Amino acid sequence: MTARAPEHLDVQDLTVTHSTPGGDVRAVDGVSLTVAPGEALVLLGESGSGKSTLARTVLGLPGHGARVRGAVRLSGTDLLTLDERALSDVRGRRVGYVPQDPDAGLDPLRKVGAQIAEVLLRHRVADSRRTARLAAPALLEEAGITEPARVARSHPHQLSGGQRQRAVIALALACAPGLLIADEPTTALDALVRARVLDLFAGLLTEKGIALLMVTHDIAVARRIADRVAVMRAGRIVETGPVGQLLTAPSHPYAAELVAAQPGGPR
Ligand SMILES: Nc1ncnc2c1ncn2[C@@H]1O[C@H](COP(=O)(O)OP(=O)(O)OP(=O)(O)O)[C@@H](O)[C@H]1O
Ligand SMILES: [Mg+2]
Repeated sequence: MTARAPEHLDVQDLTVTHSTPGGDVRAVDGVSLTVAPGEALVLLGESGSGKSTLARTVLGLPGHGARVRGAVRLSGTDLLTLDERALSDVRGRRVGYVPQDPDAGLDPLRKVGAQIAEVLLRHRVADSRRTARLAAPALLEEAGITEPARVARSHPHQLSGGQRQRAVIALALACAPGLLIADEPTTALDALVRARVLDLFAGLLTEKGIALLMVTHDIAVARRIADRVAVMRAGRIVETGPVGQLLTAPSHPYAAELVAAQPGGPR
């Protein structure tokens, strides 16, 4: 597999407004952040604070009818100015995405191996159907799947929730993207598999220099993987800082409350 060039993410003053029958919801409200090659930025924040909307908007998927302002620069290119065709060349190839709901990342009608082969062919990472199919089990194995050949031949509904989650991770990493956006990628996993997936991410950060933007609710996960943490509340980043400092001595009262409320927090 060809390793991609590392990517640098620079989000500037991003605002995303959803229209709902009950009125407008400003899910992301003036967010700026950067993620450098080889760096992991973890987003923490209560349910509804806008983490997933932010993650999806970086991929150009803010949601139907959403209004977006600001800039999302990927190594210098503002993704918000690209048309759908140019964006689909970026998605899956330069930027991998693990959606919060793993079922949203898989086609229920097609075998997992065929879905991985398709993304390899679409982005010309594999040069033939045969090479693409042969590559799928190894990619599943890298994502922590213990029976990769069987899983490759299975439809998503024939897998456990944890296997589906790892299949989505394998799909997101198949084309060796320079930036990975992962929305609660370890939530459905047991402790052992979670540790394996985090080891995989850590290896990609240090060895391949990928940039990682990850959403989690789990402070232990943040501690394990993050270089920096950003705390979101009501669409805004209220505090951002190095992981050691933010999780042990947060300065914003909301960040302190959030950290203290978690098992494994300072209290
Ligand atoms: N497609 C959409 N249409 C309308 N409103 C939406 C849409 N997606 C999200 N919202 C609203 O935007 C706000 C932020 O939602 P979002 O899913 O980004 O939060 P979150 O921080 O990811 O929450 P969680 O931790 O529960 O996953 C919420 O008020 C939500 O109701
Ligand atoms: Mg979410």
